[in-house]
Amino acid sequence: MEDISKKIALSGIQPTGSVTLGNYLGAVQNWRKMQEDFSSIFFIADMHALTVKREPADLRQASMSFFAQLLACGIDPEKAIVYFQSHVHQHAELQWILNCNTYVGEISRMTQFKDKSAKHADNINMGLMDYPVLMAADILLFQTDLVPVGQDQKQHLELTRDIAIRFNNRYGDTFKVPEPYIPELGAKICSLQDPLVKMSKSDPDPNAIVSIVDDEATIVRRFKRAVTDSGNEIVVREDKPGISNLINIYAAIEGKTPADVEKEFAGQGYGSFKIAVGEAVAAAFKPLRDDYVRYLNDKAALMELAKKGAEKASWLATKTLRKVRKRVGLVE
Ligand code: TYM
Repeated sequence: MEDISKKIALSGIQPTGSVTLGNYLGAVQNWRKMQEDFSSIFFIADMHALTVKREPADLRQASMSFFAQLLACGIDPEKAIVYFQSHVHQHAELQWILNCNTYVGEISRMTQFKDKSAKHADNINMGLMDYPVLMAADILLFQTDLVPVGQDQKQHLELTRDIAIRFNNRYGDTFKVPEPYIPELGAKICSLQDPLVKMSKSDPDPNAIVSIVDDEATIVRRFKRAVTDSGNEIVVREDKPGISNLINIYAAIEGKTPADVEKEFAGQGYGSFKIAVGEAVAAAFKPLRDDYVRYLNDKAALMELAKKGAEKASWLATKTLRKVRKRVGLVE
C-alpha cells in the first residue's frame, strides 16, 4: 500500500455476526480485487457497531473474528491497510468537525436511520443518527477516490459527497470528493427467506443468510430451504424475486451473466437449481472457512497486523486532519 500516488480505495464493515454472502458479493470480493491496483484501506467499523446495544465481550470477539474473516477473504495486509476503526482516533475527531458542517435535516432523511430507528425503537441514540457523519469522516480522512460498497450504502455516499463539497466551498479545497463503486451484480443480495429485503448479518432468522464461516452442509441446506416463487421457470423477472436472487447469486459466484445462468438451467426444476446454487456457494466459501479458522487461531499475529495497520492509517489520517484543523481555525 505504500505507493500513495495510486488512487485510494477505502471501505469498512461492521463486526456483527459474520461476513455474509451479501457482504462478500456486494463489497469484500471487490476489495480483494481493488487491493491489486489501488492504495487500499479497509477497516472493521467497530465504532459504528456501538450504535446498537451489544454485549461488550461479544463486540470484542466479533471484531477479532471479522479481522480474521477479512484476511480469509483474501484481504492482504501486505497490499492493503487493515485495522480497527477505534484504533485510529482521527475518525472521531474529524467526525466532530464534519458534524458542525452537516444539517440535521439532511441526516434525518437517511433511510437507514429511519429503518434502524424503527427496529431499535427503545434505543434511538445520537450515534445512530450521527452514523452517516462518522462514515463521511472515515472516507474523507484519507482523501479517498473510490468506495466499494453495496447498494444500501449509496445514500450515505451521496451525503459524504455533499458534506465534502460544502466544506470545500466554505473553507477552500480540502477533501477529495469520493465516488461510490457499486458492482453491477451482487450489489443487493436478498434474504433467502424474504427475497424482498436485503440479506442482513443481523437477521434473527439464521435460514435467511449464509456466511463465509458456515460449513458446506449448512450452506446447501439453507439454499434448499430458500423461498422461491410460484411457477417453475428459472428466469430473472420482477414477479420472481426469489429465483432472480438465486440467479444473481449463482452468476456472481461463478463469474457468469444472469442470461448465461438462465440458459444453463432452462427446463430444470427449482429444487435442483437451489441445490446447484448452494453447492457453488459452499465450494467458493470452503477455502475461506479453512483459512478463517487458521487465522483466528493465532490471535497474537492478528493483533500485530492490526497494530501495524492502525499505525499506517493514523499517519495518513494525521495529514488530512492537520489541514482540516487549520482550515476551520483551530489554534495549531
Ligand atoms: P455493513 O457492515 O452493513 O456491510 C458491509 C458491506 O457489505 C455491503 N452489503 C451488501 N451488499 C450486497 N447485498 C447485501 N445484502 C449487503 N449487505 C451489506 C454493504 O453495502 C457494505 O459495503 N456503514 C457500513 C460500514 C462503513 C463504511 C464506512 C463503508 C463504515 N464506514 C466507510 C464504506 C466507507 C456498513 O454498515 O456496512
